[in-house]
Amino acid sequence: MDVVHTAADLRASVSAWRREGARVAFVPTMGNLHAGHLSLVELARKHAHKVVASVFVNPTQFGPNEDFASYPRTLDADRASLAAHDCDVLFAPGVDEIYPFGVSESVRVDVPKISEVLEGELRPGHFTGVATVVTKLFNLVQPDVAVFGQKDYQQLLVVRRMTMDLRLPIDIIAAPTRRESNGLAMSSRNQYLSSGERERAGVIHRVLCAMREQWDAGRSIAAIESDARLVLEAAGSVPDYATIRRAADLSAPGQSDRRGAIALIATRIGRARLIDNLLLDP
Ligand code: PAJ
Repeated sequence: MDVVHTAADLRASVSAWRREGARVAFVPTMGNLHAGHLSLVELARKHAHKVVASVFVNPTQFGPNEDFASYPRTLDADRASLAAHDCDVLFAPGVDEIYPFGVSESVRVDVPKISEVLEGELRPGHFTGVATVVTKLFNLVQPDVAVFGQKDYQQLLVVRRMTMDLRLPIDIIAAPTRRESNGLAMSSRNQYLSSGERERAGVIHRVLCAMREQWDAGRSIAAIESDARLVLEAAGSVPDYATIRRAADLSAPGQSDRRGAIALIATRIGRARLIDNLLLDP
């Protein structure tokens, strides 16, 4: 596996493949890789001849009081995991390579509406940072396909919308969420949990499954949502939301509108803010 740090070196690798007619897949990450990230690399491999992964902790998607400074940076371990998973190129740029005019003067990519609800409402500017960096990375890598985890469901919708609206010729593929044995979705932020908190955090997936059962039984959305909150609180977590939305655009579904819904949770346990979701259609 080659490790490149500059746009010029990345372009040199990718353009050589293109001359050979190779199909290129891309997996963007912020590093501190776990089995969830690596499953994206494996899925990417099934769709292309060559796989590029990036490790870049993107400053513009963190709010002023969020964990940008303390976000775990483990490039040596990430390089070894990617090499063991048959990745062809690791792109690990510095901030100046992605933001040549500085972070505050960068061009911004804003995806209205879908960026404004749920995570977007609680983390203002977050999805502008994500859409901006993903656009820049797409322009640098110029992949045929890119793989994103369903774990960050709203991010997946923002990226899909951005790709369509900017008419980028890139297929966006969704990868299923990898979980620990207690159902906790794997996340770099799980490192902020003590072992007791990690056990307790299994409540998130249990509540999502209960929401699905109640939805299938025809219970009202308001009742499902308020029960979900109570159970999350009883387990010692502080929920930001536990909600049922339309999977297509995260708008609120009508009570008789039973198709294409998704349950989403964001909750705080200890130092960590954790998100997860479950599609409600079978
Ligand atoms: P990061 O949190 O590192 O996640 C990188 C990719 O891995 C995302 O597509 C995410 O949805 C996926 N992922 C995370 N946990 C997963 C799990 N348990 N199972 C399956 N996939 C999982 O998401 C970002 O980075 C950034 O916002 C990024 C898109 C790289 C832009 O900076």
